[in-house]
Amino acid sequence: MIALSLAEIASLVGGQPHDIPDTGRLVTGSVVIDSRRVEPDGLFAAFAGAQVDGHDYAERAIASGAAAVLATRPVGVPAIVVPDVTEALGALARAVVARLGTTLVALTGSAGKTSTKDLIAQLLERKAPTVWTPGSLNNEIGLPITALCATEDTRHLVLEMGARGVGHIRYLTGLTPPSIGVVLNVGTAHIGEFGGREQIAEAKGELVESLPADGVAVLNADDPLVRAMATRTKARVLLFGEADDADVRAENVRLTEQGRPTFTLHTPSGCSAVTLRLYGEHHVSNALAAAAVAHELDMSVDEIAVALSEAGNLSRWRMEVTERPDGVTVVNDAYNANPESMRAALRALVAMGKGRRTWAVLGEMAELGDEALAEHDAVGRLAVRLNVSKLVAVGGREASWLQLGAYNEGSWGEESVYVSDTQAAVDLLRGELRPGDVVLVKASRSVGLERVAAALLESTSGAEGQVSGR
Ligand SMILES: Nc1ncnc2c1ncn2[C@@H]1O[C@H](COP(=O)(O)OP(=O)(O)O)[C@@H](O)[C@H]1O
Ligand SMILES: [Mg+2]
Repeated sequence: MIALSLAEIASLVGGQPHDIPDTGRLVTGSVVIDSRRVEPDGLFAAFAGAQVDGHDYAERAIASGAAAVLATRPVGVPAIVVPDVTEALGALARAVVARLGTTLVALTGSAGKTSTKDLIAQLLERKAPTVWTPGSLNNEIGLPITALCATEDTRHLVLEMGARGVGHIRYLTGLTPPSIGVVLNVGTAHIGEFGGREQIAEAKGELVESLPADGVAVLNADDPLVRAMATRTKARVLLFGEADDADVRAENVRLTEQGRPTFTLHTPSGCSAVTLRLYGEHHVSNALAAAAVAHELDMSVDEIAVALSEAGNLSRWRMEVTERPDGVTVVNDAYNANPESMRAALRALVAMGKGRRTWAVLGEMAELGDEALAEHDAVGRLAVRLNVSKLVAVGGREASWLQLGAYNEGSWGEESVYVSDTQAAVDLLRGELRPGDVVLVKASRSVGLERVAAALLESTSGAEGQVSGR
């Protein structure tokens, strides 16, 4: 964090110093919410969660070197006491970002935010110091904490913005107002909470509504609900996609034998060939969004193409491909799932598995509301239609719908099997996998299918596999 005294911080967040011997003491370390991660001269923000209350760890945080605790009550050690810690973090981030001359890039969408944010970061980092959201910390707590990592040297701040309802993105853009705003897609993620696709579009579009007239709205030309957001912004619009009128476009898209997308990238400054290190055709759209941002920040098409072709997977469990010593390939995409990403992952599996046996180990896609049955059924059917050798549906009722879809689509019913838990899936796979097989593991976060991927990677005589990507 930029150096600020405790007195300045208290004033910026509207808080009361308590038990602080010297309010002139400077905070220079990061802001953290986990007392085990406290940095010397940092700030510890105490949150009261369902299981643990951060206030109970205040003493430990100070003992580890924190300058003070941001808290909602006095804690017997140096603290700045505020009515609401989330709002205080937001106020601090807003004030710090306003002082810095950093270019703010924000992105949202139903699927691909983290992957695209990681691509944008890897592109912009080549030009100038860049700070970006680690992993998926895209909410009202993670976003200010990330923004507070920016310093006077930071030229680009790349922020993932998530939303579970209308008004959330507006709140986040109020803290860190972007000059470049990217909307990737409007899918069905969290549709149960939002109510419908239109509501999701309403919420995601708040990002472009926040942009200034000299800003840029980077919109997906291939997604009608995103393209329509052009009318909701004062900013200039830059379209990306495969549509003919997209400013940043991919042509001749195909998947290599490894399942990696390769295409010709067109930007207003020319064209250049790209082969991604990431797996799955859905990353073409993500790469184009990243290219559009890089183009706006003055990178040439050749620079962008090289950077995209070298960019790796920065966040875990997203199409993480590991070759086992026995020739089984494990594709761990267990981070999350929705209908769009399930389809993209199945297509990538089939491309990677050409001439090999392919296994799709899939679980529930959460939060689909009324569409849950139809969407699980459709994914099950697609697995059969794409000729995936075997679908293993893991978990509860939703997983059984996946299996039923596959069963109804297949002629013999041998294309799919249902198991009720991850251990049963592991036992089945351990018994049946043969050298050369490719296994995709994917479900919503809550299912915890990464345990299946981990077990498959452990089960090979202790030898280390080769993890590709970064
Ligand atoms: N453009 C896209 N369209 C559909 N699915 C995608 C896209 N990009 C990534 N995915 C898939 O969505 C899941 C979540 O990806 P991630 O990049 O973490 O997105 P988010 O941060 O929006 O949740 C992954 O399983 C990934 O394979
Ligand atoms: Mg994310």
